Amino acid sequence: MIGDRETRQTIWHPEFLVYSGPSGVIDVNGSRLLTRECVTVFRPQIALTARMVCAMARVNPGRWTAEIEGDFVVFIIGARLNSPLKAIRSFADLGGRRGMPYMLKHLIQHPDKGLLGYQNFGLTNVQYWRSFEHLEAFAKDPNDPHSAAWRQYWKRVGNSTRSGIWHETFLVRAGEYEAIYGNMPATGLGRAGRLVPISGSTSARKRLHRKAG
Ligand code: HEM
Repeated sequence: MIGDRETRQTIWHPEFLVYSGPSGVIDVNGSRLLTRECVTVFRPQIALTARMVCAMARVNPGRWTAEIEGDFVVFIIGARLNSPLKAIRSFADLGGRRGMPYMLKHLIQHPDKGLLGYQNFGLTNVQYWRSFEHLEAFAKDPNDPHSAAWRQYWKRVGNSTRSGIWHETFLVRAGEYEAIYGNMPATGLGRAGRLVPISGSTSARKRLHRKAG
C-alpha cells in the first residue's frame, strides 16, 4: 500500500496514476513498477520510457496461474469518445478530474470498499471485486465519488452521443475460472489474487477440474 512518503510526487502514466517515492515507482495498486535503480537512471518524469526499458525485470519466467480466495466479481468498464473533436467535453462528461483515475485512487486508499485489483487497457478497465454488494455499494454511496459522476453524466450528456460509457459485470464462483500466464508480468487476475507457478502437465480443462470431454 502507498505510504505518505510514496505519495509525494504524482506523475503522468497511461495507467492513470503512478507514484514515485523512495522505494521506486509504484502504481495505485501498490505494485512495484520499477526499482529505485531504474527511477534513478530515468527520472520519474519519463517513467513510461523507464517502465518499458525496465519491463523485463518484472516478467515472471515460465508458466504461472492465478488464484483468489472465494467467489469474486469481474467488472469491465469502458468509455468511448464518439466525437474526438469534442474530447474536452467528453473528459468532463466522464467525471473530469473526479473521473476514473480519481475513483480508482479512492478505492485503493479504501481497501474495505472491496476492489481487489484492476488493469487498464486503454479506455477499458478490468476490475476484480470481492463481491457484487461491495461494487453496488460503491456505485450508490453518496459519500463515494461515483454517484455524483453517474448523475452528472446523464445530466450533461442526455441524448447527445459524444461520450459513450459501458460496463459488464460477471459473478465468478470459487474455482470456476482458470488463468495461464507464460513469461508475463503480473496481469489481470494475477494482480488481484496471487500468482502460482505451474509445474508438470496442465491444461485449461484440468485447471477447471473438468472431466475429459
Ligand atoms: C471505479 C470505477 C467505476 C465503478 C466501479 C463503477 C460502477 C458502476 C456500477 C456498479 C453501476 C451500476 C449501478 C446500478 O445500476 O445499480 C454504474 C453505473 C453507472 N456509472 Fe459507473 N462505475 C465506475 C466509473 C464510472 C465513471 C468514471 C463514470 C463516468 C461518468 C461512470 C458513470 C456511470 C453511469 C452514467 C452509470 C449509470 C448507467 C445507467 O444505468 O444508466 N461510472 N457504475
